[in-house]
Amino acid sequence: MDKDVRILAIESSCDETAAAVVVNGREVLSNIISSQIDIHTLYGGVVPEIASRKHIERINQVIREALTAAGVTLDDIDAVGVTYGPGLVGALLVGVAEAKAIAWARQLPLIGVHHIEGHISANYIEHRELEPPFGCLVVSGGHTHLVRVRDYGEYEILGRTCDDAAGEAFDKVARAIGLGYPGGPKIDRVSREGDPSAIDFPRGKVRGSEYDFSFSGLKSAVLNYLNECRMKGIPVRTADVAASFQKAVVDVLVEHSMHAVEEYGFREFAIAGGVASNSALRLAMEEACAKKGISFYRPSPVLCTDNAAMIGAAAYYEYRKGIRSDYSLNAIPNLQLGER
Ligand code: KG4
Ligand code: ZN
Repeated sequence: MDKDVRILAIESSCDETAAAVVVNGREVLSNIISSQIDIHTLYGGVVPEIASRKHIERINQVIREALTAAGVTLDDIDAVGVTYGPGLVGALLVGVAEAKAIAWARQLPLIGVHHIEGHISANYIEHRELEPPFGCLVVSGGHTHLVRVRDYGEYEILGRTCDDAAGEAFDKVARAIGLGYPGGPKIDRVSREGDPSAIDFPRGKVRGSEYDFSFSGLKSAVLNYLNECRMKGIPVRTADVAASFQKAVVDVLVEHSMHAVEEYGFREFAIAGGVASNSALRLAMEEACAKKGISFYRPSPVLCTDNAAMIGAAAYYEYRKGIRSDYSLNAIPNLQLGER
């Protein structure tokens, strides 16, 4: 039997300082996440400069905790994986510099990981049976991608957002209806008390491109609705607005995904990224996949939002392919999926 591969993974692309120890890409020994949400909430969103400073303050402790919780030391680690893009450049640099320092000091292989590849790979952790090829919808605060996963590390982007990412739309609408930051989980919660068919918000379409997404029109429609209510003196039912907005997003995400399922003949479909923890999306996707008779996969909510276990999972498959980064590895804020 092959020797187990233990990867120390580091993630610092946005406002979560995270480290994990993952064995053979699928078994998570530890997954430590230090969230900066409290401090960014004071400003209504992520402040990049503050994020970088907080990563620097916390990263050593988070790595130490990840090793301790896994019951290992650096002597037991076979490689270091780290997110090097996309994300906030100053935030990414903290993780990249840390990973390079550990790899150099311990003479360990270094593997730069694409953040979105990490999100997709989160599905491997709890679903041992899942293997490419499959279809995947990646919906996060910065990205909305409909992806054909051809093989480990091999992706074809079928569609993407032309303007706001799905999570960004959740955050902006939440702010407009007074729910504050972070918007996604708050809209999810409030929507449970609302009527999703109360307001008929538009389902964004991109002309000539059946898999691309557009959410800025929907966001404007919500803002217009709120303005109109204010001007006419009509009280706004926050829960109805939230539920109707959420339904409009979910309908489009499910429709495009199922279209891809038909067109590409996927037998397995997965969702990933922060918005994949949305309860309405999970339910709607599950029902849509069941109707098509295909298997549906989604990570637990803690593995949907940013974490380092998913980076460890992705790093393992790069490791197996012999892919290594050298000490010139740099943060690439706008790194594209499938690009090195
Ligand atoms: O994947 P992630 O943690 O970070 C990025 O890579 O962007 O995603 C964060 C995004 C935020 O926009 C947040 O509002 C959204 O995911 N989100 C949700 C939910 N939980 C997090 N959106 C809708 N429903 C949720 N339950
Ligand atoms: Zn993310």
